[in-house]
Amino acid sequence: MDGRDLVRSVKAVGSGGAAQGLRTVRAAWRRRRADATGLPERGGERARVPGSVLDVEPGPGGGVVRFTRSELRITVAANGAVFWGWDGAAPEPSYALAGRGPEADPRAALEPDKDGGWRIVAERVTVAVSRHGAVEVRTPGGVTLRRDLPPRWWEPADGGPGRWMQRSEVAADARFFGLGGRASGPRLRDGTYRLWNTDPGHAFGPGDDPLYLTMPVQMVVADAATHLAFHDTSWDGTVTLREGEEGAGSGHDRAGTSELRMDGGPLRCWVMVGTPARVLHTWAALTGAPALPPSWALGHQHARWGFGSEQEVRRIVRGYRERGLPLGAVHLDIDHYDGHRVFTVDRENFPKLPALAEELRRDGIRLVSIIDPAVEAEPGNTVHDSGVAEDTFVRDAAGRLVEGVVWPGESLHPDFTDARVRKWWGGLYAERLAQGFAGFWHDMNEPTSFTAFGENTLPRSARHALEGRGGDHREAHNVYALCMARAAYEGLRELAPHERPFLFSRSGWAGLQRYGGTWSGDVATGWPGLRASLSLVVGLGLCGVPYSGPDVGGFDGSPSPELYLRWFQLGAYLPLFRTHASLRAGRREPWEFGEDVLGHARVALVERRRLLPYFVTLAHLARRTGAPYVRPVWWGAPEDRALRDCEDAFLLGDCLLVAPVLDPGRERRTVQLPRGRWYDTATEEVFEGPAQIVVDAPLSRVPVLVRAGAVLPVRGDGGGLELEVWAPEPGRTGFGVVVPDAGDGWNEPDIERFTAHWDEQRVVVEREGRDGGEGPDESPYPVRIRGLSAH
Ligand code: GLC
Repeated sequence: MDGRDLVRSVKAVGSGGAAQGLRTVRAAWRRRRADATGLPERGGERARVPGSVLDVEPGPGGGVVRFTRSELRITVAANGAVFWGWDGAAPEPSYALAGRGPEADPRAALEPDKDGGWRIVAERVTVAVSRHGAVEVRTPGGVTLRRDLPPRWWEPADGGPGRWMQRSEVAADARFFGLGGRASGPRLRDGTYRLWNTDPGHAFGPGDDPLYLTMPVQMVVADAATHLAFHDTSWDGTVTLREGEEGAGSGHDRAGTSELRMDGGPLRCWVMVGTPARVLHTWAALTGAPALPPSWALGHQHARWGFGSEQEVRRIVRGYRERGLPLGAVHLDIDHYDGHRVFTVDRENFPKLPALAEELRRDGIRLVSIIDPAVEAEPGNTVHDSGVAEDTFVRDAAGRLVEGVVWPGESLHPDFTDARVRKWWGGLYAERLAQGFAGFWHDMNEPTSFTAFGENTLPRSARHALEGRGGDHREAHNVYALCMARAAYEGLRELAPHERPFLFSRSGWAGLQRYGGTWSGDVATGWPGLRASLSLVVGLGLCGVPYSGPDVGGFDGSPSPELYLRWFQLGAYLPLFRTHASLRAGRREPWEFGEDVLGHARVALVERRRLLPYFVTLAHLARRTGAPYVRPVWWGAPEDRALRDCEDAFLLGDCLLVAPVLDPGRERRTVQLPRGRWYDTATEEVFEGPAQIVVDAPLSRVPVLVRAGAVLPVRGDGGGLELEVWAPEPGRTGFGVVVPDAGDGWNEPDIERFTAHWDEQRVVVEREGRDGGEGPDESPYPVRIRGLSAH
């Protein structure tokens, strides 16, 4: 037990009493014993490299290149995505892929390259395989974006799966992003990042890595092009990144490098190349379109661990109403369960939940329930009994149930990698729907099991179905939460077929967006935590998970009024806008920080409500194109290096640039502007980018800039949809899209496209003709032109 473990076990004792502390000690020993006997012994290892090329076997989109000690299957898909797998690995089976994966490009074929290598020339990309097994991805113009050196394996001398290492080089000017949710980004600095979903066990800051949601997805941005590389293996591993260095015209550039070391699993990789928008579009085609949240989930949400009773929930809701603060949802944490047991209700303190839910719903407020995967291991607990009867819980190598420790005490974990178990679990949400819950907040699903020492998860030797293939927790761990999300999503589709499931999950993996979003987890209250919140949202969006947000105000402790306000103002522009805090943390209601903060928080809330049609439109665009709502400022201009290094601002869709205040005592800040004309939305002052500008950032608001020509759907005072149009530059045409969504359900609204241009002295806004329909017509919505004073 090291110092940190000791702190952890003392904390566990503190949060659950002495009995819980003892359980975590026993659980830690159980876990250690299970792994001592249940895992293959680490004997001698043999190293291997591919060797030299022997011959090739052409196939659709590429083929197989045979080497003396491995073979490489390589395919270019019709959408330009490149796949390669060593030792013959194919794209399937995969937890990340949606459907069967893309079709091969029928025009792409292996052809001989120089020096005994082979290559595939496709429309969007060229891939070259060297004689010794280096794989190079080039732009159609021939610029190398990524060079994967021949991999290395270390295999147990007596057979079985081995470890491997893949070293890659990227351009000297390239920047790395992604790897799931990282607190120290969004630009990933030199260092080693682990790929193992982890509950840090305490409120985290930028120095904590890994966190709850990791994935082997790198977004690499360089002058020549952007590319995304995905190593499709769920095993534990690390990525060591090192940015390159340019030799200032001397010709002596040092390439950037990525070194991936995995404990096992297939060595296979997808690469997609293009603009950031194109790359994420291809990624969403591969791993699935982001689920569309119901529009209430794009309003403000208030959570708290420890409301403790229906009266307290009513008091909070009344507090919002009486102060004119919009509210979309209230979240109930584990304290509303009976003895922390999932799918139960504490009837004493929450005697009439369905009635409370109904009452709130009449005011337009939904109830969201936390869902923990762990089920109390106690006969008589109905979920436990039905799980045992249906054999749904994870077992060890000897066939015994694996007991962990979570909030209710000794607990069992469903094996979500089994379709049969997912079906059972999905059915359990019927109880939640009957209680009146409309949304679901998945927690503790890394999975976390408290231990006094060692890793706070299931034993690595624990067995999992892995869709019938069979395997252990080393392979299942990182996809556990993804499979739990799938179980809930599919269950809800059956139980409430007319509603869009709303769920977000602390942990996950590549493809999570198919089922829902995520949130920061327990981000530490403090200015570094505020910065980490933004890093997580931007990074996750670049990995294809567009819906997320932090615990506004931070999870622990008590933020200063200024910090709370700045967090609130940032949260108002993020997809998931939710205040939340721990049982023992200070208050988080906007009225608890003095009159000034209340007034400024109200402005943020009202603005969020006004922007709701824009958020809904962004949700639809995310689903159709894979583009996240929150984008790095380099999104439309990745070649602008100053933008690439800018981490303190973001684009919200195509129209807005939000420059939150991330430091104390700031009332002005610099903003790195992308090219084009921008207005400060508060003052209508005009700025021309690219430039670094200084704008006012008083406590009452954070700077938000809008692109000239933007057509922004907003909610008018009467509640109807209106267009806010920002005067285009003279001679230019402005543009915007609106998706008029009913708020829930599966009707597919048309995307309406609008243009704005100057005609003599006025700005004319028109709706473009529908496909095959008549020409442009007038806007069916009231239009308000802004930015005219500058002209
Ligand atoms: C975890 C969650 C947190 C929740 C708490 C109690 O720490 O991350 O959001 O409040 O558990 O359920």
